[in-house]
Amino acid sequence: MAARVKPAKPAKRAPAASERTRQKRSDTPVPVLVLSGPNLHRLGKRQPEIYGTQTLEDVHELLRAHAVQVNAQVTCRQSNYEGELVGWIGDAKTEGFSGLLLNPGALTHTSYALYDALLGAELPCVELHLSNPDAREEFRRKSTVAAACVGRVAGFGARSYLLALDGLLGHLQRPL
Ligand code: DQA
Repeated sequence: MAARVKPAKPAKRAPAASERTRQKRSDTPVPVLVLSGPNLHRLGKRQPEIYGTQTLEDVHELLRAHAVQVNAQVTCRQSNYEGELVGWIGDAKTEGFSGLLLNPGALTHTSYALYDALLGAELPCVELHLSNPDAREEFRRKSTVAAACVGRVAGFGARSYLLALDGLLGHLQRPL
């Protein structure tokens, strides 16, 4: 009987330089700027029956932990001032961010300045809300920023921040 010859294992080859770059690039966390507008610094105290009992810092902590799972890195900021938000949006690309998450608070319903800032930002933005503005007072049904955003997540409490990050990352990975 002829002896069985074990098939030779294919030799392991080192990844080519282009492959290494690609691997490194896909391992690098996606930098995302997360902005919250007026009154959101009072989360946890402010109308907890609508906005929940978690503080904004709690929400940011949850988001940071989620970001690690989905290979993103979030930088979270809050301001009560429209101009400060406009400045952060305008500088986001130069600061190296790949996209934005924005909960504009009540500025959602009034701010053409935020709309213009988003149009000029050259970065995708997801609008997000803790509550569902469409199920509330009439004035909350209008969003001045929506038309400058790639999508919107609303009504899921703190989870809206996490879902908005997933949506943004999906958008960034979408083939052209
Ligand atoms: C909000 C909804 C807005 O209508 C409101 O003015 C806020 C919070 C939200 O997260 O549900 O301040 O953006």
